[in-house]
Amino acid sequence: MRVAVPAGLVDEPIYLDHNATTPVDPVVADACVPYLTHAFGNPSSAHHYGTEPRAALERAREQVAAVIGAQGEHVVFTASGSEADALAVCGVALAVRGKRAHVVTQCTEHPAVLEACRALANAGVDVTVLPVDGDGVVDPDALRAALTSHTVLVSIMAANNETGALQPIAELARITHEHGAVFHCDAAQAVGKVPVDVADLDVDLLTVVGHKMYAPKGIGALYVRPGVRLEPLVRGGGQERGLRAGTENVAFAVALGTAARLAGDALAAGEADRVRALRDRLHDRLREGLGDRVLLNGPVASRLPNTLNVSIDGVAAHRLLAEIPQVAASTGSACHSGSATPSPVLTAMGLSPRRSLAALRLSLGRWSTREDVDRAAELITARATVAEPVG
Ligand SMILES: Cc1ncc(COP(=O)(O)O)c(C=O)c1O
Repeated sequence: MRVAVPAGLVDEPIYLDHNATTPVDPVVADACVPYLTHAFGNPSSAHHYGTEPRAALERAREQVAAVIGAQGEHVVFTASGSEADALAVCGVALAVRGKRAHVVTQCTEHPAVLEACRALANAGVDVTVLPVDGDGVVDPDALRAALTSHTVLVSIMAANNETGALQPIAELARITHEHGAVFHCDAAQAVGKVPVDVADLDVDLLTVVGHKMYAPKGIGALYVRPGVRLEPLVRGGGQERGLRAGTENVAFAVALGTAARLAGDALAAGEADRVRALRDRLHDRLREGLGDRVLLNGPVASRLPNTLNVSIDGVAAHRLLAEIPQVAASTGSACHSGSATPSPVLTAMGLSPRRSLAALRLSLGRWSTREDVDRAAELITARATVAEPVG
């Protein structure tokens, strides 16, 4: 493994929130600097200044494509994962033009997909939101039953951001194609953490997000299989094959390309196994300290290797984390004006409010170490042992 640690992690709280965002890999940061300085040209310019940015943009496109088993010409750069999701979901539904359209998604999707579907529903599109089981996984038979002759799109994520639950994408895509609809997969959390291959999964559209894979925030990409009809959401100068107007952010596209190359290298070098072992060590340490109070949320096996979502029975997770600022992590709840509400994802899985409000999302990453997880487990255990039990 490379040793350059991002400056932001040195002598700071233990960072266990990689599903929220990752630090920018120093190699990625270095790679984009030339496109913020001397190679500043517009990649569409025909003159000297356009040459280097254009070449860099196309190189980056190839690198992003390579990590998902695609070809560069089928990758569209966007300004975020949310934008890539919106382009996929609304783009397919709007391309139908005038005909009745039906879209299927599922209840633990990221708001980027759920809100795009809500906007479509408000505009008169039929939308079905599938339920999940207790592990947060969609039943393929439920998808089969939901499809109609009007279904144009199914959008289901590869991996959940809160629990790491992996959906059976290849099977869901196969069922979708049997009905002649397009399949979109939001792979924001999966790319770089587990192998993702658009051909193996047989998906038509796939979302990639920079800031979940050690590139900066504000860059994403959408894989678009040839032949899929998409209505662009941002129109203008015809960039990105007419699917997403706006002069490309060359520096951040280069960052995403570099991050994709590093992610591919890391996966090939066994990074997923290293992180999984650390994640499981953290889980073991918590169980050693707190016993049966530690309840895993999400699937045991079919889960992102970096994600541990556990409820510690009897604690209010947001209070616990506030009391140990040495650990930076997320909870299974959202805080509004001092009171916590359970996460819709955990609620959709059927977890009680008590269990959801006790949930910690601990997500590891490239620079997580054994010392980090041991210390985090120690701090969480000590705090949970003395915490005043909630009702
Ligand atoms: C599963 C998933 N999809 C989409 C997004 C949105 O990406 P962005 O923050 O780049 O808009 C996120 C980010 O949290 C995510 O976890």
